[in-house]
Amino acid sequence: MNILGISAYYHDSAAALIQDGQIIAAAQEERFTRKKHDFSFPQNAINYCLKEAELTSADLNIVAFYDKPFIKFERILETYLAYAPIGIKSFIKAMPLWIKQKLWIKDLIRKKLGFDGKIIFPEHHESHAASAFFPSPFNNAAILTLDGVGEWATASYGEGKNNELSILAEIHFPHSVGLLYSAFTYYTGFKVNSGEYKMMGLAPYGEPKYKDLILSELMDLKEDGSFRLNMRYFDYCAGLTMTNRRFEKLIGHPPRKPHSHLRQRDMDMARSVQEVTEEVVLRMAKHVYKETNKKNLCLAGGVALNCVSNGRVLRESPFENIWIQPAAGDAGGALGAALLVWYKYLGNNRTSNDRDDFQQGSYLGPKFENEYIFEYLKRNNIFYTELNDDEIPERVADLIAAQKIIGCFQGRMEFGPRALGNRSIIGDARSTKMQSIMNLKIKHRESFRPFAPSVLEEKASNYFDIDCQSTYILLVSP
Ligand SMILES: [Fe+2]
Repeated sequence: MNILGISAYYHDSAAALIQDGQIIAAAQEERFTRKKHDFSFPQNAINYCLKEAELTSADLNIVAFYDKPFIKFERILETYLAYAPIGIKSFIKAMPLWIKQKLWIKDLIRKKLGFDGKIIFPEHHESHAASAFFPSPFNNAAILTLDGVGEWATASYGEGKNNELSILAEIHFPHSVGLLYSAFTYYTGFKVNSGEYKMMGLAPYGEPKYKDLILSELMDLKEDGSFRLNMRYFDYCAGLTMTNRRFEKLIGHPPRKPHSHLRQRDMDMARSVQEVTEEVVLRMAKHVYKETNKKNLCLAGGVALNCVSNGRVLRESPFENIWIQPAAGDAGGALGAALLVWYKYLGNNRTSNDRDDFQQGSYLGPKFENEYIFEYLKRNNIFYTELNDDEIPERVADLIAAQKIIGCFQGRMEFGPRALGNRSIIGDARSTKMQSIMNLKIKHRESFRPFAPSVLEEKASNYFDIDCQSTYILLVSP
């Protein structure tokens, strides 16, 4: 039984292939087209998944698309109508893509894949929830999903037990912690739907000076983590920007222009919304624990890439164990949709040992054979030295100690935004200068951007306030 999962047309298009319940391959379209957050139909990712499984589209039994386009369209129409005639500009901008592509996804899949079998459309947050629970190590767990928006839901919680999954409650658009975070991403001069992790990296340099203002004016946050945003200050329902003039007046300064100098107040804005987000996620997690009475928690949705708030959930919520889908954003929806079909729709068994997950280190993407690499190096006249496998660790350790920077390229590519050792740049974590050397010289990026330290699992608690694995760079610990 071959099931192909697809996510597309919002951000982070991806494909995933499940064969008899096993994850065979998963990859994001951007890795093939080299367009960051590519949202087009993931033809390259699909071709790769089929090739990895040695299949053609004729061998596929079911295709799963990660959300329900018609309900999403209904939400967009209803929102425009509620604000009309304000919003006409944004409406005119959004419509062509809907009318040409987004509403015809079933036909598009049939045409592009030459596939005439069954196509299933789970809900957006159901796909996120499935991507969080089914690959997790748990037989029984609570599930929390948080993102910008799917069809209507922007957050949901539920529970997973063996092959079953159910959603118990949702928060609906326009009230969204993901969109609140994106509004501040926009305001601090970063790109919405892509610069969020930069703002998270900037947050520790600031003070939470705007936190009280956010909680008193911009949102009404309840004890159980549910909330409403004060839509008087936001423009994303009808406008072309995230925030409006009232927001600017309230904050007391205009948004930072992209690429301009970062000021203390930008860092304070980042820290403030980061702390509010942590507060929301933590309150939600505590509420979900109370409602579900489970000791394990699974997380997904773009907000679950916020490894700082995940770390606080691990330390401060009553949950004993937590597992986060490494491709927590919409790319992971492709994997979740396919797994949902295998377990929930087809009713196949699932047993887990409560220890090992099914994500295979998230090394689910393409790999390159040595012959191919040799051929490339020779063709481009690149100098190289060949080492055998047992020479490599010592050589790399010597180079790190000598303050060199190393590019690791090995095995299969990671599924999800984090480089987990197979496509990573590494250096000496003991050096106080290494972070800025790497950022400025190697990656030509902002000097504040963080790196993840790597440490032997059995030594982790010597250095960090953590006593569990954190192999997917999704938990930050002091
Ligand atoms: Fe999402």
